[in-house]
Amino acid sequence: MTHIDDKRRQFLQYAAMSTLAATLPGFALAESRTINKTPDASFKADVEIALTAQVADIPIRSGAPTQVFKYYGKLLKGPRTSLQELPGYLGPILNFQQGQKVRIYFYNELPEPCVTHWHGMHVPQAMDGHPMYAIYRGEQYVYEFEVKNPAGTNWYHAHTHELTAPQVYQGLAGLITITDEAEQKLDLPHGEYDIPLVIQDRSFTHGNQLRYMLNMHQRMTGFLGDTILVNGQENSMIPVKTRAYRVRILNGSNSRIYKLGWDDGTPVTAIATDGGLLQKPETLPYVMLAPAERVEVWIDFSGRKVGSDLTLQSLAYQGPSPMGGGMRQGMGMMGSAFGQDGVISIARFHIAESMSDSPKLPTELVPMRRLTAQGGSDPGKTVPIAIGMRHMNFQLNGRTFDMQDYLELEKIPVNSVQRIRIFHDSRGMGGGMRGGRGGMGMMMSQPHPIHLHGQQFQILSRTLSGPSSSSYDSVKDGLINSGWKDTVLVMPGEEVEILKPFEDYTGLFLYHCHNLEHEDMGMMRNFFVS
Ligand code: C2O
Ligand code: CU
Ligand code: CU
Repeated sequence: MTHIDDKRRQFLQYAAMSTLAATLPGFALAESRTINKTPDASFKADVEIALTAQVADIPIRSGAPTQVFKYYGKLLKGPRTSLQELPGYLGPILNFQQGQKVRIYFYNELPEPCVTHWHGMHVPQAMDGHPMYAIYRGEQYVYEFEVKNPAGTNWYHAHTHELTAPQVYQGLAGLITITDEAEQKLDLPHGEYDIPLVIQDRSFTHGNQLRYMLNMHQRMTGFLGDTILVNGQENSMIPVKTRAYRVRILNGSNSRIYKLGWDDGTPVTAIATDGGLLQKPETLPYVMLAPAERVEVWIDFSGRKVGSDLTLQSLAYQGPSPMGGGMRQGMGMMGSAFGQDGVISIARFHIAESMSDSPKLPTELVPMRRLTAQGGSDPGKTVPIAIGMRHMNFQLNGRTFDMQDYLELEKIPVNSVQRIRIFHDSRGMGGGMRGGRGGMGMMMSQPHPIHLHGQQFQILSRTLSGPSSSSYDSVKDGLINSGWKDTVLVMPGEEVEILKPFEDYTGLFLYHCHNLEHEDMGMMRNFFVS
Protein backbone atom coordinates (compact mmCIF):
# COMPACT_ATOMS: atom_id res chain seq x y z
CA MET A 1 0.00 0.00 0.00
CA THR A 2 1.15 3.47 -0.70
CA HIS A 3 0.98 6.25 1.79
CA ILE A 4 -0.47 9.21 0.05
CA ASP A 5 -1.75 11.84 2.39
CA ASP A 6 -3.76 13.56 -0.24
CA LYS A 7 -7.14 11.97 0.17
CA ARG A 8 -8.47 13.72 -2.88
CA ARG A 9 -5.92 12.03 -5.05
CA GLN A 10 -6.88 8.63 -3.72
CA PHE A 11 -10.48 9.20 -4.52
CA LEU A 12 -9.52 10.25 -7.97
CA GLN A 13 -7.57 7.04 -8.34
CA TYR A 14 -10.63 5.17 -7.27
CA ALA A 15 -12.65 7.15 -9.78
CA ALA A 16 -10.31 6.30 -12.58
CA MET A 17 -10.43 2.62 -11.74
CA SER A 18 -14.14 2.31 -11.46
CA THR A 19 -16.68 3.18 -14.06
CA LEU A 20 -17.21 6.44 -12.25
CA ALA A 21 -16.53 9.06 -14.86
CA ALA A 22 -16.07 12.71 -14.09
CA THR A 23 -19.36 13.30 -15.80
CA LEU A 24 -21.20 10.90 -13.49
CA PRO A 25 -23.36 8.54 -15.45
CA GLY A 26 -26.94 9.00 -14.38
CA PHE A 27 -26.52 12.69 -14.14
CA ALA A 28 -27.44 13.27 -17.70
CA LEU A 29 -30.75 11.96 -16.54
CA ALA A 30 -30.53 14.03 -13.42
CA GLU A 31 -30.60 17.15 -15.54
CA SER A 32 -34.26 16.53 -16.12
CA ARG A 33 -34.76 15.59 -12.49
CA THR A 34 -37.59 16.70 -10.29
CA ILE A 35 -36.13 17.66 -6.99
CA ASN A 36 -38.25 18.74 -4.09
CA LYS A 37 -36.91 22.25 -3.62
CA THR A 38 -39.59 23.86 -1.53
CA PRO A 39 -41.66 22.85 1.46
CA ASP A 40 -45.25 21.82 0.98
CA ALA A 41 -47.39 24.36 2.85
CA SER A 42 -50.08 21.78 3.53
CA PHE A 43 -47.59 19.51 5.34
CA LYS A 44 -47.71 20.68 8.95
CA ALA A 45 -44.41 19.59 10.38
CA ASP A 46 -43.99 18.78 14.07
CA VAL A 47 -40.22 18.66 13.69
CA GLU A 48 -38.08 20.71 11.32
CA ILE A 49 -34.39 20.14 10.88
CA ALA A 50 -31.75 21.71 8.68
CA LEU A 51 -29.18 19.09 7.70
CA THR A 52 -26.06 20.12 5.82
CA ALA A 53 -23.49 17.80 4.29
CA GLN A 54 -20.10 19.49 4.20
CA VAL A 55 -16.37 18.95 4.36
CA ALA A 56 -15.04 19.15 7.91
CA ASP A 57 -11.84 18.60 9.88
CA ILE A 58 -12.62 16.41 12.87
CA PRO A 59 -10.25 15.08 15.54
CA ILE A 60 -10.51 11.28 15.43
CA ARG A 61 -7.08 10.10 16.56
CA SER A 62 -4.31 11.86 18.39
CA GLY A 63 -2.44 14.24 16.12
CA ALA A 64 -3.82 15.90 13.06
CA PRO A 65 -7.58 16.14 12.54
CA THR A 66 -9.11 14.06 9.77
CA GLN A 67 -10.84 15.55 6.80
CA VAL A 68 -14.29 14.02 6.52
CA PHE A 69 -17.69 14.59 5.01
CA LYS A 70 -20.06 15.39 7.85
CA TYR A 71 -23.75 15.98 8.37
CA TYR A 72 -24.36 19.02 10.53
CA GLY A 73 -27.83 19.39 11.99
CA LYS A 74 -29.79 22.31 13.34
CA LEU A 75 -33.17 21.98 14.99
CA LEU A 76 -35.59 24.55 13.63
CA LYS A 77 -38.77 23.33 15.26
CA GLY A 78 -39.92 20.59 17.62
CA PRO A 79 -38.82 18.91 20.87
CA ARG A 80 -35.28 19.84 21.90
CA THR A 81 -34.37 16.14 22.10
CA SER A 82 -35.08 15.67 18.37
CA LEU A 83 -31.44 16.33 17.62
CA GLN A 84 -28.57 14.87 19.61
CA GLU A 85 -24.97 15.69 18.68
CA LEU A 86 -22.25 13.05 18.94
CA PRO A 87 -18.57 13.80 19.15
CA GLY A 88 -16.72 12.45 16.12
CA TYR A 89 -17.69 12.64 12.49
CA LEU A 90 -21.13 11.04 12.49
CA GLY A 91 -24.19 13.18 11.90
CA PRO A 92 -26.44 14.04 14.84
CA ILE A 93 -28.81 11.36 16.15
CA LEU A 94 -32.34 12.16 15.04
CA ASN A 95 -34.81 11.18 17.76
CA PHE A 96 -38.35 10.87 16.43
CA GLN A 97 -41.70 9.73 17.77
CA GLN A 98 -44.11 7.60 15.83
CA GLY A 99 -46.75 9.80 14.21
CA GLN A 100 -44.57 12.90 14.05
CA LYS A 101 -44.43 14.80 10.81
CA VAL A 102 -40.85 15.60 9.97
CA ARG A 103 -39.42 18.12 7.53
CA ILE A 104 -35.72 18.06 6.78
CA TYR A 105 -34.07 20.76 4.72
CA PHE A 106 -31.07 19.02 3.24
CA TYR A 107 -28.27 21.24 1.95
CA ASN A 108 -25.41 19.91 -0.09
CA GLU A 109 -22.20 21.86 0.53
CA LEU A 110 -19.96 19.08 -0.75
CA PRO A 111 -17.86 19.40 -3.90
CA GLU A 112 -19.89 16.54 -5.43
CA PRO A 113 -23.54 15.51 -5.78
CA CYS A 114 -25.29 13.94 -2.82
CA VAL A 115 -28.62 12.51 -1.70
CA THR A 116 -29.72 11.26 1.71
CA HIS A 117 -31.64 8.07 2.42
CA TRP A 118 -33.53 7.31 5.65
CA HIS A 119 -32.61 3.65 5.95
CA GLY A 120 -35.38 1.52 7.43
CA MET A 121 -38.01 4.23 7.24
CA HIS A 122 -41.29 3.73 5.40
CA VAL A 123 -41.58 6.93 3.35
CA PRO A 124 -42.82 7.94 -0.13
CA GLN A 125 -40.58 7.51 -3.17
CA ALA A 126 -39.61 11.18 -3.47
CA MET A 127 -38.57 11.22 0.22
CA ASP A 128 -36.59 7.99 0.12
CA GLY A 129 -33.26 9.29 -1.16
CA HIS A 130 -33.24 7.45 -4.47
CA PRO A 131 -30.05 8.42 -6.35
CA MET A 132 -32.15 10.03 -9.08
CA TYR A 133 -32.90 12.78 -6.56
CA ALA A 134 -29.27 13.74 -5.93
CA ILE A 135 -28.55 17.44 -5.64
CA TYR A 136 -25.47 19.42 -6.57
CA ARG A 137 -23.42 21.66 -4.35
CA GLY A 138 -25.40 24.66 -3.18
CA GLU A 139 -28.76 23.03 -3.76
CA GLN A 140 -31.48 22.12 -1.30
CA TYR A 141 -33.84 19.14 -1.10
CA VAL A 142 -36.81 19.22 1.22
CA TYR A 143 -37.72 15.86 2.75
CA GLU A 144 -41.15 15.59 4.32
CA PHE A 145 -42.51 12.42 5.83
CA GLU A 146 -44.63 11.11 8.63
CA VAL A 147 -42.88 8.71 10.98
CA LYS A 148 -44.84 5.50 10.46
CA ASN A 149 -42.26 3.10 11.83
CA PRO A 150 -42.58 1.64 15.30
CA ALA A 151 -40.00 2.16 18.04
CA GLY A 152 -36.52 1.13 17.01
CA THR A 153 -33.23 2.19 15.53
CA ASN A 154 -32.81 3.28 11.93
CA TRP A 155 -30.18 5.39 10.27
CA TYR A 156 -29.55 7.85 7.48
CA HIS A 157 -26.73 7.93 4.98
CA ALA A 158 -25.66 9.17 1.57
CA HIS A 159 -27.06 7.18 -1.35
CA THR A 160 -25.44 8.91 -4.30
CA HIS A 161 -25.06 7.16 -7.64
CA GLU A 162 -21.78 5.20 -7.62
CA LEU A 163 -20.59 7.30 -4.68
CA THR A 164 -22.45 5.74 -1.77
CA ALA A 165 -19.44 3.76 -0.56
CA PRO A 166 -16.88 6.60 -0.59
CA GLN A 167 -19.37 9.12 0.82
CA VAL A 168 -20.47 6.93 3.70
CA TYR A 169 -16.84 5.97 4.26
CA GLN A 170 -15.95 9.64 4.55
CA GLY A 171 -18.58 10.12 7.23
CA LEU A 172 -22.03 10.69 5.76
CA ALA A 173 -24.14 8.67 8.18
CA GLY A 174 -26.10 9.11 11.39
CA LEU A 175 -28.57 7.27 13.62
CA ILE A 176 -32.33 7.67 13.82
CA THR A 177 -34.23 6.49 16.87
CA ILE A 178 -37.98 6.18 17.03
CA THR A 179 -40.11 5.81 20.12
CA ASP A 180 -43.79 4.92 20.42
CA GLU A 181 -46.37 4.23 23.11
CA ALA A 182 -45.85 0.48 23.22
CA GLU A 183 -42.18 1.01 23.90
CA GLN A 184 -42.75 3.66 26.55
CA LYS A 185 -45.00 1.28 28.50
CA LEU A 186 -42.09 -1.16 28.76
CA ASP A 187 -39.95 1.35 30.62
CA LEU A 188 -36.73 0.15 29.00
CA PRO A 189 -33.44 1.77 30.03
CA HIS A 190 -33.46 5.30 28.65
CA GLY A 191 -31.52 8.53 28.77
CA GLU A 192 -27.92 7.85 29.77
CA TYR A 193 -28.74 4.13 30.01
CA ASP A 194 -29.64 3.96 26.32
CA ILE A 195 -26.36 3.87 24.39
CA PRO A 196 -25.86 4.30 20.65
CA LEU A 197 -23.05 2.21 19.22
CA VAL A 198 -22.19 2.67 15.56
CA ILE A 199 -19.42 0.33 14.45
CA GLN A 200 -17.29 1.21 11.43
CA ASP A 201 -13.88 0.14 10.16
CA ARG A 202 -11.56 2.67 8.63
CA SER A 203 -7.95 2.94 7.52
CA PHE A 204 -5.77 5.97 8.07
CA THR A 205 -2.63 7.36 6.53
CA HIS A 206 0.26 8.41 8.77
CA GLY A 207 -1.15 11.91 8.54
CA ASN A 208 -4.49 10.71 10.01
CA GLN A 209 -6.35 11.02 6.73
CA LEU A 210 -8.88 8.41 5.68
CA ARG A 211 -7.48 5.92 3.25
CA TYR A 212 -9.76 4.31 0.73
CA MET A 213 -7.72 2.47 -1.85
CA LEU A 214 -9.61 0.10 -4.02
CA ASN A 215 -7.81 -2.42 -6.11
CA MET A 216 -9.70 -5.09 -8.00
CA HIS A 217 -9.63 -7.45 -5.04
CA GLN A 218 -11.01 -4.82 -2.67
CA ARG A 219 -13.72 -3.94 -5.10
CA MET A 220 -14.87 -7.55 -5.23
CA THR A 221 -14.83 -8.13 -1.48
CA GLY A 222 -15.65 -4.61 -0.41
CA PHE A 223 -13.36 -2.29 1.50
CA LEU A 224 -12.04 -3.52 4.84
CA GLY A 225 -10.35 -1.07 7.18
CA ASP A 226 -7.78 -1.94 9.84
CA THR A 227 -9.09 0.37 12.57
CA ILE A 228 -12.40 0.01 14.40
CA LEU A 229 -14.25 3.19 15.21
CA VAL A 230 -17.26 3.37 17.51
CA ASN A 231 -19.43 6.45 17.12
CA GLY A 232 -16.67 7.93 14.99
CA GLN A 233 -13.95 7.50 17.60
CA GLU A 234 -11.08 5.11 18.17
CA ASN A 235 -10.53 2.87 21.26
CA SER A 236 -14.02 3.27 22.53
CA MET A 237 -14.41 3.16 26.31
CA ILE A 238 -17.89 3.59 27.71
CA PRO A 239 -18.24 4.23 31.47
CA VAL A 240 -21.28 2.45 32.93
CA LYS A 241 -23.01 1.82 36.25
CA THR A 242 -24.00 -1.49 37.82
CA ARG A 243 -27.43 -1.73 36.23
CA ALA A 244 -29.08 -2.69 32.94
CA TYR A 245 -28.48 -0.82 29.69
CA ARG A 246 -29.98 -0.78 26.24
CA VAL A 247 -27.30 -0.66 23.55
CA ARG A 248 -28.37 0.22 20.02
CA ILE A 249 -25.81 -1.28 17.68
CA LEU A 250 -25.55 -0.35 14.02
CA ASN A 251 -23.02 -1.86 11.66
CA GLY A 252 -22.23 1.28 9.68
CA SER A 253 -19.25 -0.30 7.92
CA ASN A 254 -18.99 -0.49 4.16
CA SER A 255 -18.48 -4.25 4.00
CA ARG A 256 -17.17 -5.73 7.24
CA ILE A 257 -19.35 -8.31 8.98
CA TYR A 258 -19.06 -8.62 12.76
CA LYS A 259 -19.67 -11.59 15.02
CA LEU A 260 -20.51 -9.76 18.22
CA GLY A 261 -20.08 -11.31 21.63
CA TRP A 262 -19.05 -10.39 25.18
CA ASP A 263 -15.48 -11.18 26.15
CA ASP A 264 -16.42 -13.08 29.33
CA GLY A 265 -18.78 -15.39 27.49
CA THR A 266 -21.98 -13.71 28.70
CA PRO A 267 -24.61 -14.53 26.09
CA VAL A 268 -26.01 -11.72 23.98
CA THR A 269 -29.58 -10.69 24.80
CA ALA A 270 -31.20 -9.10 21.77
CA ILE A 271 -34.33 -7.00 22.26
CA ALA A 272 -34.63 -5.46 18.78
CA THR A 273 -33.59 -6.00 15.19
CA ASP A 274 -33.56 -3.61 12.19
CA GLY A 275 -37.28 -2.89 12.29
CA GLY A 276 -37.76 -2.47 16.00
CA LEU A 277 -38.46 -4.39 19.18
CA LEU A 278 -38.81 -8.15 19.15
CA GLN A 279 -41.86 -9.89 20.51
CA LYS A 280 -39.67 -11.27 23.27
CA PRO A 281 -35.95 -11.05 24.03
CA GLU A 282 -33.71 -13.58 22.35
CA THR A 283 -30.55 -14.99 23.89
CA LEU A 284 -27.74 -16.08 21.61
CA PRO A 285 -24.07 -16.94 22.09
CA TYR A 286 -23.19 -14.15 19.66
CA VAL A 287 -24.89 -12.02 17.01
CA MET A 288 -23.85 -11.68 13.38
CA LEU A 289 -24.16 -8.09 12.24
CA ALA A 290 -23.72 -7.34 8.54
CA PRO A 291 -23.47 -3.84 7.08
CA ALA A 292 -26.65 -1.80 7.71
CA GLU A 293 -28.09 -4.30 10.19
CA ARG A 294 -29.05 -3.14 13.65
CA VAL A 295 -29.41 -5.11 16.81
CA GLU A 296 -30.40 -3.73 20.18
CA VAL A 297 -28.84 -5.48 23.08
CA TRP A 298 -29.83 -5.62 26.75
CA ILE A 299 -26.80 -5.83 29.01
CA ASP A 300 -27.00 -5.86 32.78
CA PHE A 301 -23.87 -4.82 34.65
CA SER A 302 -25.48 -5.44 38.06
CA GLY A 303 -23.22 -7.31 40.42
CA ARG A 304 -20.08 -6.52 38.47
CA LYS A 305 -17.10 -5.07 40.28
CA VAL A 306 -16.48 -1.36 40.03
CA GLY A 307 -13.25 -0.93 38.12
CA SER A 308 -13.76 -4.00 35.96
CA ASP A 309 -14.45 -4.10 32.24
CA LEU A 310 -16.73 -5.97 29.88
CA THR A 311 -15.70 -5.79 26.26
CA LEU A 312 -17.85 -6.20 23.20
CA GLN A 313 -15.80 -8.13 20.68
CA SER A 314 -16.03 -9.39 17.17
CA LEU A 315 -15.21 -13.07 17.44
CA ALA A 316 -13.35 -15.24 15.00
CA TYR A 317 -15.35 -16.95 12.28
CA GLN A 318 -14.39 -18.88 9.24
CA GLY A 319 -14.57 -17.50 5.76
CA PRO A 320 -15.98 -19.63 2.99
CA SER A 321 -13.58 -22.31 1.87
CA PRO A 322 -12.28 -22.59 -1.66
CA MET A 323 -14.47 -24.52 -4.05
CA GLY A 324 -11.48 -26.39 -5.33
CA GLY A 325 -9.86 -26.76 -8.69
CA GLY A 326 -8.75 -23.79 -10.65
CA MET A 327 -10.69 -21.46 -8.44
CA ARG A 328 -8.44 -21.91 -5.49
CA GLN A 329 -6.19 -19.01 -6.16
CA GLY A 330 -8.88 -16.44 -6.67
CA MET A 331 -10.94 -17.81 -3.85
CA GLY A 332 -8.36 -17.94 -1.16
CA MET A 333 -8.22 -14.19 -1.01
CA MET A 334 -11.98 -13.86 -1.02
CA GLY A 335 -12.30 -16.28 1.81
CA SER A 336 -9.77 -14.59 3.98
CA ALA A 337 -11.36 -11.21 3.42
CA PHE A 338 -14.64 -12.38 4.87
CA GLY A 339 -13.61 -14.67 7.59
CA GLN A 340 -12.09 -13.22 10.70
CA ASP A 341 -9.06 -14.96 12.12
CA GLY A 342 -8.67 -13.37 15.49
CA VAL A 343 -10.78 -11.48 17.98
CA ILE A 344 -11.31 -7.76 17.40
CA SER A 345 -12.11 -5.53 20.33
CA ILE A 346 -15.04 -3.24 19.54
CA ALA A 347 -16.01 -1.34 22.69
CA ARG A 348 -14.91 -1.56 26.31
CA PHE A 349 -17.62 -0.99 28.92
CA HIS A 350 -15.91 0.19 32.08
CA ILE A 351 -17.88 -0.34 35.29
CA ALA A 352 -17.30 3.04 36.89
CA GLU A 353 -19.97 3.36 39.54
CA SER A 354 -22.26 1.15 41.58
CA MET A 355 -25.99 1.58 41.77
CA SER A 356 -28.51 -0.32 43.81
CA ASP A 357 -31.46 -0.82 41.53
CA SER A 358 -31.89 -1.77 37.96
CA PRO A 359 -34.86 -2.40 35.67
CA LYS A 360 -35.66 -6.03 34.92
CA LEU A 361 -35.66 -7.44 31.42
CA PRO A 362 -39.31 -7.74 30.30
CA THR A 363 -40.28 -11.27 29.25
CA GLU A 364 -42.59 -9.89 26.57
CA LEU A 365 -41.72 -6.83 24.52
CA VAL A 366 -44.21 -5.85 21.80
CA PRO A 367 -46.87 -7.83 19.94
CA MET A 368 -45.88 -8.67 16.40
CA ARG A 369 -48.07 -8.96 13.35
CA ARG A 370 -46.94 -12.33 11.99
CA LEU A 371 -46.91 -12.54 8.22
CA THR A 372 -47.46 -16.00 6.79
CA ALA A 373 -46.78 -17.42 3.37
CA GLN A 374 -50.48 -18.27 3.09
CA GLY A 375 -51.39 -14.74 4.07
CA GLY A 376 -49.46 -13.28 1.14
CA SER A 377 -51.39 -11.51 -1.58
CA ASP A 378 -50.52 -14.11 -4.16
CA PRO A 379 -49.48 -17.27 -2.32
CA GLY A 380 -48.56 -19.05 -5.54
CA LYS A 381 -46.05 -16.41 -6.58
CA THR A 382 -42.52 -15.70 -5.46
CA VAL A 383 -40.61 -12.58 -6.44
CA PRO A 384 -36.99 -13.52 -7.17
CA ILE A 385 -33.87 -11.72 -6.09
CA ALA A 386 -31.19 -13.70 -7.90
CA ILE A 387 -27.63 -12.88 -6.89
CA GLY A 388 -25.39 -13.34 -9.88
CA MET A 389 -22.23 -12.13 -11.46
CA ARG A 390 -21.16 -11.21 -14.94
CA HIS A 391 -18.07 -9.50 -16.31
CA MET A 392 -16.64 -9.18 -12.81
CA ASN A 393 -19.72 -7.32 -11.66
CA PHE A 394 -22.34 -8.48 -9.23
CA GLN A 395 -25.87 -8.36 -10.50
CA LEU A 396 -29.39 -8.82 -9.21
CA ASN A 397 -31.92 -10.63 -11.36
CA GLY A 398 -29.39 -10.68 -14.18
CA ARG A 399 -29.09 -6.91 -14.38
CA THR A 400 -26.87 -4.13 -13.16
CA PHE A 401 -28.34 -0.97 -11.67
CA ASP A 402 -29.87 1.39 -14.16
CA MET A 403 -31.38 4.51 -12.60
CA GLN A 404 -35.09 4.05 -13.31
CA ASP A 405 -35.11 0.63 -14.91
CA TYR A 406 -37.19 -2.30 -13.68
CA LEU A 407 -38.17 -5.62 -15.16
CA GLU A 408 -41.62 -7.13 -15.39
CA LEU A 409 -40.76 -9.35 -12.42
CA GLU A 410 -39.79 -6.26 -10.44
CA LYS A 411 -43.31 -4.82 -10.65
CA ILE A 412 -45.17 -5.10 -7.37
CA PRO A 413 -48.85 -4.33 -6.74
CA VAL A 414 -49.26 -1.68 -4.06
CA ASN A 415 -50.83 -2.73 -0.74
CA SER A 416 -49.73 -6.32 -1.20
CA VAL A 417 -47.57 -8.68 0.81
CA GLN A 418 -45.00 -10.46 -1.34
CA ARG A 419 -43.06 -13.61 -0.80
CA ILE A 420 -39.52 -12.94 -2.01
CA ARG A 421 -36.87 -15.56 -2.63
CA ILE A 422 -33.25 -14.40 -2.38
CA PHE A 423 -30.81 -16.92 -3.81
CA HIS A 424 -27.46 -17.36 -5.52
CA ASP A 425 -28.02 -17.77 -9.20
CA SER A 426 -25.51 -20.22 -10.55
CA ARG A 427 -27.23 -20.44 -13.93
CA GLY A 428 -26.91 -16.89 -15.08
CA MET A 429 -23.17 -17.15 -14.86
CA GLY A 430 -22.66 -16.98 -18.57
CA GLY A 431 -21.04 -14.21 -20.51
CA GLY A 432 -17.32 -13.99 -20.35
CA MET A 433 -17.12 -15.77 -17.05
CA ARG A 434 -18.30 -19.26 -17.93
CA GLY A 435 -15.69 -21.71 -16.93
CA GLY A 436 -13.49 -18.83 -15.91
CA ARG A 437 -11.60 -18.75 -12.70
CA GLY A 438 -13.18 -15.81 -10.93
CA GLY A 439 -16.87 -15.57 -11.59
CA MET A 440 -18.80 -18.31 -9.96
CA GLY A 441 -16.27 -18.91 -7.26
CA MET A 442 -16.26 -15.34 -6.11
CA MET A 443 -20.00 -15.11 -6.20
CA MET A 444 -20.70 -18.31 -4.37
CA SER A 445 -18.06 -17.59 -1.78
CA GLN A 446 -19.35 -14.22 -0.65
CA PRO A 447 -22.04 -13.34 1.81
CA HIS A 448 -24.29 -10.48 0.68
CA PRO A 449 -26.34 -8.33 3.07
CA ILE A 450 -29.43 -7.76 0.94
CA HIS A 451 -31.45 -4.66 1.80
CA LEU A 452 -34.90 -3.66 0.61
CA HIS A 453 -36.16 -0.11 0.88
CA GLY A 454 -39.59 0.66 2.24
CA GLN A 455 -41.39 -1.44 4.79
CA GLN A 456 -39.70 -3.94 7.04
CA PHE A 457 -39.99 -7.62 6.23
CA GLN A 458 -40.00 -10.95 8.04
CA ILE A 459 -37.76 -13.93 7.39
CA LEU A 460 -39.73 -17.01 6.41
CA SER A 461 -36.96 -19.53 5.89
CA ARG A 462 -33.26 -20.08 5.34
CA THR A 463 -32.14 -23.06 3.28
CA LEU A 464 -28.64 -24.22 2.49
CA SER A 465 -28.16 -25.65 -0.97
CA GLY A 466 -25.64 -28.23 0.15
CA PRO A 467 -24.35 -29.70 3.38
CA SER A 468 -23.42 -27.17 6.03
CA SER A 469 -19.84 -26.00 5.87
CA SER A 470 -17.56 -25.16 8.76
CA SER A 471 -17.82 -21.58 7.61
CA TYR A 472 -21.61 -21.60 7.94
CA ASP A 473 -21.42 -23.43 11.24
CA SER A 474 -19.22 -20.68 12.62
CA VAL A 475 -21.88 -18.01 12.07
CA LYS A 476 -25.27 -19.76 12.09
CA ASP A 477 -26.06 -19.41 15.79
CA GLY A 478 -25.83 -15.64 15.50
CA LEU A 479 -28.54 -15.10 12.90
CA ILE A 480 -31.75 -13.65 14.31
CA ASN A 481 -34.73 -14.61 12.19
CA SER A 482 -37.61 -13.61 14.41
CA GLY A 483 -37.90 -9.85 14.11
CA TRP A 484 -38.70 -7.17 11.55
CA LYS A 485 -35.79 -6.73 9.17
CA ASP A 486 -34.78 -4.50 6.30
CA THR A 487 -31.43 -6.15 5.64
CA VAL A 488 -30.72 -9.85 5.64
CA LEU A 489 -27.32 -11.51 5.49
CA VAL A 490 -27.45 -14.13 2.75
CA MET A 491 -24.58 -16.53 3.28
CA PRO A 492 -22.77 -18.39 0.51
CA GLY A 493 -24.91 -21.27 -0.72
CA GLU A 494 -27.90 -19.99 1.19
CA GLU A 495 -31.40 -19.20 0.06
CA VAL A 496 -33.54 -16.89 2.17
CA GLU A 497 -37.27 -16.44 1.78
CA ILE A 498 -38.88 -13.33 3.17
CA LEU A 499 -42.36 -11.83 3.37
CA LYS A 500 -42.59 -8.12 2.74
CA PRO A 501 -45.51 -5.73 2.74
CA PHE A 502 -45.56 -3.00 0.09
CA GLU A 503 -48.17 -0.69 1.55
CA ASP A 504 -49.16 2.95 1.15
CA TYR A 505 -46.68 4.25 -1.41
CA THR A 506 -46.24 3.72 -5.13
CA GLY A 507 -43.13 4.33 -7.22
CA LEU A 508 -39.55 3.15 -7.43
CA PHE A 509 -38.04 1.55 -4.36
CA LEU A 510 -34.53 0.18 -4.33
CA TYR A 511 -33.29 -3.20 -3.29
CA HIS A 512 -29.57 -3.85 -3.19
CA CYS A 513 -26.58 -5.39 -1.56
CA HIS A 514 -25.53 -3.25 1.41
CA ASN A 515 -21.91 -4.15 0.94
CA LEU A 516 -21.46 -0.59 -0.27
CA GLU A 517 -18.74 -1.43 -2.78
CA HIS A 518 -21.07 -4.03 -4.28
CA GLU A 519 -23.87 -1.49 -4.37
CA ASP A 520 -21.71 1.05 -6.18
CA MET A 521 -20.68 -1.65 -8.65
CA GLY A 522 -24.32 -1.91 -9.62
CA MET A 523 -25.62 -4.65 -7.33
CA MET A 524 -28.86 -2.72 -6.99
CA ARG A 525 -32.24 -2.68 -8.70
CA ASN A 526 -35.64 -1.01 -8.47
CA PHE A 527 -38.98 -2.47 -7.54
CA PHE A 528 -41.76 -0.55 -9.21
CA VAL A 529 -44.74 -0.48 -6.88
CA SER A 530 -48.01 0.50 -8.53
CU1 C2O B 1 -28.93 1.85 3.62
CU2 C2O B 1 -30.42 1.78 -0.10
O1 C2O B 1 -29.61 1.83 1.79
CU1 CU C 1 -32.53 1.66 2.84
CU1 CU D 1 -22.84 -8.05 -2.06
